[in-house]
Amino acid sequence: MTRPDPDTNAAALVAEALRAAAHAHAPYSGWHVGAAAEFADQPGVVYRGANVENGSYGLTICAERTAIFAGVVAGARTLRRVALVCRDRSGAAVPQLVPCGACLQVMTEFGGPETEIVIEGAGTFRIRDFLPRPFGAGLTVPRAGT
Ligand code: THU
Repeated sequence: MTRPDPDTNAAALVAEALRAAAHAHAPYSGWHVGAAAEFADQPGVVYRGANVENGSYGLTICAERTAIFAGVVAGARTLRRVALVCRDRSGAAVPQLVPCGACLQVMTEFGGPETEIVIEGAGTFRIRDFLPRPFGAGLTVPRAGT
């Protein structure tokens, strides 16, 4: 499942994710997660995100979703690649981090099975590596009034 990073652009995107991690709000878990998202319909633009925790723990949002939603509200729609980094309280890298199920589902909405997920220290993966049968694939989700 792990593949070597195919190009240096991946390293540049990881560097953006690392910058984003500096702005994580993670007083509870101590995991400072940073994400950087690229969209095919906005080439050359990178959207950063970080996890934002809350004292009402369930309200926490992950780094991947804040990055993707930042892109979406700026008009981007076709997710090409997401880079992910994680640092613990001591500043050490946590390469075991993988996207959670909620973030994979959100990635699926704007990307597809081939959308790349670059994880610092672990390699480059695709959505289909983690979520082989996503909800919504091939489905016409019912809409109100139809
Ligand atoms: N977290 C992310 O930001 N991304 C993930 O894919 C998994 C987990 C965050 C949420 C929480 O603030 C912390 O990591 C520990 O779960």
